[in-house]
Amino acid sequence: MSLHLGDTAPNFTAETTDGPIDFHEWKKDAWTVFFSHPADFTPVCTTELSATARLNDQFVNRGVKVIAISVDPIEEHHKWKGDIGDVGGTDLNFPIIADPDKKISELYDMIHPGEGDTNSVRSVFIIDPNNKIRLTLTYPKSVGRNFNEILRVVDALQLTDFAPIATPADWQPGERVIVSLGLTTDEARERFAEVEEVKPYLRWTPQPKA
Ligand code: BEZ
Repeated sequence: MSLHLGDTAPNFTAETTDGPIDFHEWKKDAWTVFFSHPADFTPVCTTELSATARLNDQFVNRGVKVIAISVDPIEEHHKWKGDIGDVGGTDLNFPIIADPDKKISELYDMIHPGEGDTNSVRSVFIIDPNNKIRLTLTYPKSVGRNFNEILRVVDALQLTDFAPIATPADWQPGERVIVSLGLTTDEARERFAEVEEVKPYLRWTPQPKA
């Protein structure tokens, strides 16, 4: 099944390192970062889960719950989680889903044919409080993800839900943003204190305060 932006994130039940969950019940009204990794006890995956554990406070501050998944069994996740704390300096502070029968990984299209094995690759889904998929990305096994970038996208998504704006290339929180194409420049000037029109379709405004 191929999932697209705007689709409802499918529900499932699973065993996790924090106990059994029903995914929609677990996430309730929260933003959620749901990400897969290929295998426990592998180097890139260990650095990725360590990095996410170190950033978890920042996800929590934004109302975001983080959850990982791989096709390893729950016993392996429990054995591996000590390594994540050793490597990253922060104990694992979010659940890892065990998916040994690959049901969830297949439901979310996390297993890519032609990869040479049937492990999940490095997929990320950002899911909003209404369970809609708002971002998907997939990295190959050999390339670790940038979890600061995932935080930056959460900031951008939450801001674009709050005001009729979009974020430009390489935007960082606090920088100027782009007025939505749905507003004329006159409407933008009524809505925002400052608007600079560079082109009729490119209007800058300071980042609105949430
Ligand atoms: C890794 O996390 O280092 C890894 C996992 C699966 C295949 C290759 C590398």
